[in-house]
Amino acid sequence: MARMRNLLGAAAAALTVAAMGALTPAAPAAAAGPTGDGVVSPSVVGGSQAAQGEFPFMVRLSMGCGGALYSSDLVLTAAHCVGRTGTNTSITATLGVVDLNSSSRITRSSNYVYRAPGYNGYGDDWALIRLSSPVTGLSTLKIATTTAYDSGTFTIAGWGANREGGAQQRYLLKATVPFVDDATCNSRSMYNGQVIAAEEICAGYTAGGVDTCQGDSGGPMFRRDAANAWIQVGIVSWGDGCARPNKPGVYTQVSYFASAIQSAASSLGG
Ligand code: ARG
Repeated sequence: MARMRNLLGAAAAALTVAAMGALTPAAPAAAAGPTGDGVVSPSVVGGSQAAQGEFPFMVRLSMGCGGALYSSDLVLTAAHCVGRTGTNTSITATLGVVDLNSSSRITRSSNYVYRAPGYNGYGDDWALIRLSSPVTGLSTLKIATTTAYDSGTFTIAGWGANREGGAQQRYLLKATVPFVDDATCNSRSMYNGQVIAAEEICAGYTAGGVDTCQGDSGGPMFRRDAANAWIQVGIVSWGDGCARPNKPGVYTQVSYFASAIQSAASSLGG
C-alpha cells in the first residue's frame, strides 16, 4: 500500500508540474548556474549538476517526468507518466540541453503513446512516446538486453526534486548509486516483499542520501558497458519518499522488458 500511495503521489506531483509548465520551474533560483562558480548544487537528491552534452539522451517531458532517447523519434519513459496507448499530441519533449530554459533547447510534440500493455499500477512500468518528427544530432541510449549489466554502480539523472517534497529543477542533476540485490531490497527493513524481483531493480545506499525523486520518473538509470558506452538498465519508477535510509530507489528492470520494448518500438516505426 505504501507503494500505491507513492505512485499516486507521484502522479499528483506530475500533474502539478504540468499545470505550472515544466519549462518554468517554480523555483529556478534554487538551482545554481551551470558555469564555473564552484557551487555544487544538490542533485536528483544528493548529486551535482550534469555538464552540457554529458548525457545527450536525457529528455524532459511536459507532464513532469524524465525519459531517454531510444531512437531519433522514440522516448522511453515510465508507464505511470503517461495515459493509455493511442494517439496523443499533448506531450512536449525538451531535449539537447541541461538548462530547460536554454534558447538552444530542442522541443518536439508527441504524436503517439504506447504504454506497456500489462501496466496496472504495479510493475510493467515502461512506455514509449513517439515524437512528431525525428531529432538529429543527439545520441540515443541503448537498452540492456541481458542481465549482464544489472549490477555495479549506476548513474541517475533528472530534473526532478532535489529533496523529498522539493521543487523541480531547471538544470539537470546527476548522481551515482550502487545496485541493491532483490533479496536485500525485499528484506523486512527495506521493502518487505513489495518489489517485483523479476521486473524491478533497486539502487541506493543503505544510509540513504542519494536517490531519484518526484519528477525523475521515467528517466533512465544507466552505466557503462564493456565497450565503455552508456547502457540503460533501469527506468525511474518508485520509492518510499526520497533518499531515506533503507529505502533505495526502485527502477523498472529494462533487461526484463527489452524484447517487449524492441517489438513495441518496431511497431511504432522506430
Ligand atoms: N514516482 C516518482 C515520479 O513520478 C519517482 C520516485 C522515485 N523515488 C525514489 N525514491 N527513487 O517522479
